[in-house]
Amino acid sequence: MNTTKVIGLFSALALAPALAGAAEHPTYAKEVSRIIQDNCQICHQPGQIGPMSFTSYEEVRPWAPLIRMKVAEREMPPYQYDADIGVQHLKNDWRLKQEDIDTLLAWVDAGAPLGNPEELPPPKEFPPVGEWRLAAELGPPDHIIKSTAWDVPAKGQDLWWEPEVPSGITEARCIKAVETLPSKAAHGSTHHANSHFLTQDENGNWVPSGRLSEYAYGKLGEKVPEGACRTAPANSMVGWSIHYYPDGKAVADDQVTVGIWYQDEDFKKEEAYPQDLTLYMLQGGDDYLIPPHGKLMTQGFHSFDHPVRLDSWQPHLHLRGVAMSMEVFYPETGRREVLSQASNWNAGWNHSHTYEDGYQPLLPAGATIILTAWYDNTADNPRNPDPDQWVGAGQRTTDEMSHAWIAVTHLDEDGYEKMLADREQRDQRSMATR
Ligand code: HEC
Repeated sequence: MNTTKVIGLFSALALAPALAGAAEHPTYAKEVSRIIQDNCQICHQPGQIGPMSFTSYEEVRPWAPLIRMKVAEREMPPYQYDADIGVQHLKNDWRLKQEDIDTLLAWVDAGAPLGNPEELPPPKEFPPVGEWRLAAELGPPDHIIKSTAWDVPAKGQDLWWEPEVPSGITEARCIKAVETLPSKAAHGSTHHANSHFLTQDENGNWVPSGRLSEYAYGKLGEKVPEGACRTAPANSMVGWSIHYYPDGKAVADDQVTVGIWYQDEDFKKEEAYPQDLTLYMLQGGDDYLIPPHGKLMTQGFHSFDHPVRLDSWQPHLHLRGVAMSMEVFYPETGRREVLSQASNWNAGWNHSHTYEDGYQPLLPAGATIILTAWYDNTADNPRNPDPDQWVGAGQRTTDEMSHAWIAVTHLDEDGYEKMLADREQRDQRSMATR
């Protein structure tokens, strides 16, 4: 018998469990700190909207069990969009990758160890609160529009402020990006701030002419898809619909600001986009009443008489709303397809889910968009403030709402066919290289 071989084998066996242990358990220093930096610290740091700060091991460690729960249930990061159905190619997708979720869970289950502090990454830098998020990429906005000043009281019910202000736009231009910025002081009480353009008709009356921007707590700026033009009309007014919900802090003379980034002067629309891009608001049901301790489902439908490309989907429900989906029904074949679904709706968070270029749903003329909303007015809904109430559609936070904002690029038949052909070519190409 060869003794050296036996000894060698023996010591390898003795080492094995220690090595395996190290590999099985992620540590804060090596893996977890990077996941937290990239996905959580933007909100979980001093002065931001997250209720606690996650900038060091000492700050994160006590929350490990709660982090495990929130991450496993996909409640944090707050981005309510189902991972197993519909289009999954999204821009600015806040969802954690499954492998990162697995790492966080394994770390908590291993006792949330620090590991080797020398492996900690350097601290990450973030843009300050109350400043344009898109500025990092696009610089300061080209044009800004402010709402008329308004005093937000410290306490009270929902407040609506709907001033109309001149847009200050003297020349029609294509918009590249828009962002709505609540003031730093009223950051916590500005729940929604929507704005739309008004232009004068032939009789001199001011009429709505397209959405400018929607902001809801937690939302970032929005970029117009590559090659498309969303027009900012000249000599227009801007109508605001701002919803404040007092959060204990009075703010005098508050103003919400919209920033617009323009395309270059010589910007040319792509041929396939013969018309402008519009934001369309689809109701998921209008005249409904949810009974006390009851559940309900409502639907809304819409079809266009020309082909369209859907660029983004932003569901909006209130406290009894628990889920929403957007489907398409093709009357010619009878086929139905889920495009997007949010089945763990949380009214505290609103996102415009923007489809990645090349993956936006393309709908032929006459295809029907079906928006479905589900409501739960029972005590099982953890966000339900009062299951004894009848709840109808309305504007207050305690009323229900049910709609989605959908960014639509209007196409002609040629543009539609060209886009379909481009995608077929791409998919064949990727099949060939597989
Ligand atoms: C866009 C901002 C934002 C991001 C990104 C974010 N959070 Fe949060 N988080 C919040 C806010 C605001 C709350 C409190 C309100 C709520 O629960 O919705 C919260 C609550 C929590 C809570 C529960 C606190 C409690 O007392 O119930 C945990 C745990 C948490 N976040 C962990 C994380 C982790 C882990 C990540 C990253 C993987 C993350 N969050 C990413 C904003 C954010």
